[in-house]
Amino acid sequence: MTFLSATLTRVKPSPTIAVTTKAQALKAAGRDVIGLGAGEPDFDTPQHIKDAGLAAITAGKTKYTAVDGIAELKQAICDKFARENDLRYTPDQVSVGSGGKQILYNALMATMNPGDEVLIPAPYWVSYPDMVLLAGGEPRIVSASPESKYKITAEQLDAAITPKTKWFIFNSPSNPTGAGYTHSELKKLTDVLLRHPHVWVMTDDMYEHLSYDGFEFATPAQVEPALYERTLTCNGVSKAYAMTGWRIGYAAGPKMLIDAMRKIQSQSTSNPCTISQWAAVEALNGPQDFLAENNKIFVRRRDLVVHMLSAIDGITCPVPEGAFYVYPSIKGLIGKTTQNGTVIENDEVFATQLLEQTGVAVVFGAAFGLSPNFRVSYATSDEALTEACTRIQTFCASLV
Ligand SMILES: Cc1ncc(COP(=O)(O)O)c(C=O)c1O
Repeated sequence: MTFLSATLTRVKPSPTIAVTTKAQALKAAGRDVIGLGAGEPDFDTPQHIKDAGLAAITAGKTKYTAVDGIAELKQAICDKFARENDLRYTPDQVSVGSGGKQILYNALMATMNPGDEVLIPAPYWVSYPDMVLLAGGEPRIVSASPESKYKITAEQLDAAITPKTKWFIFNSPSNPTGAGYTHSELKKLTDVLLRHPHVWVMTDDMYEHLSYDGFEFATPAQVEPALYERTLTCNGVSKAYAMTGWRIGYAAGPKMLIDAMRKIQSQSTSNPCTISQWAAVEALNGPQDFLAENNKIFVRRRDLVVHMLSAIDGITCPVPEGAFYVYPSIKGLIGKTTQNGTVIENDEVFATQLLEQTGVAVVFGAAFGLSPNFRVSYATSDEALTEACTRIQTFCASLV
């Protein structure tokens, strides 16, 4: 009898966290490391949100709450969906968890039966396939191509659906590519889903507010109201509100599913941090003007990185619509050799050599299911980005 669960043999640890850990270890050892691996804004949580957290502590709002969220936060979430997405939900259709990650995990745990398939467009956020596996389901990957700017087509979606498909996970703007589906691109996908009534949509709208150049965010149940009864719309405050450490994510969808998710949460973590919930109420109800200010900074950084990486022979770097990532292809570098004689066989070797030789930490594309690429998170200072891209340029120029 083995001590550890057999389920663990189906999953791997998060590669993005592994890169961050490795970069931190090198830094601790005295190396000059620039981390472009972490998926979080470098901005501090806005003061009015911090103040709401402090006020909650002072007022003694420090006890357990209802398992899946306080009434005030659920109402703020309903108001947000109505105001920003034209979606009507009642508080009993809302679930609040410890980060978007827990929400997605709860939804999968609440619905997966052996043999159930989940469609995941690649490149994907690293956790989707492993969460599906942990929950006992089967991830089915639909690969997007660089030619389609890392977005899947309606034909691809249609071809991938089988009688066993339970969920289609949709993430726009995307981690890791930053690609955002326009309203009309999304409508083509929802038209396919209309023809397959057994397939549900889990939409991960975590980067909703981080979109640029006039890109208009759209979410499946908004684009196709007929999907409302089989859509779980997931979102959170982590990225846009610079609240990664507060751990608040949420979702709205059919009450039956929300009830099932609550059951899982009630027997695992119980309520998300009480203080963070009160801060999230302020994030959603309070002033939103800083979002546009932050986005101006993100656009400038995106353009800086795309410009510097596109100047490299062997790298192509599309301009993404949102999030704070770019996903350059290194197709033109595969097969080349580093100065220490290592052949760049794939994107993992590229990222490892880059980190070891230049101190720049990026995440290799295989972690996101589409190679040969790497992901750069540009949620760091212009100076750090300029220095990192200069080092990447020098490293690539030294390959023979
Ligand atoms: C696409 C996507 N979904 C969900 C999450 C999880 O967010 P949270 O920190 O709220 O758990 C992340 C975080 O990296 C993400 O990139």
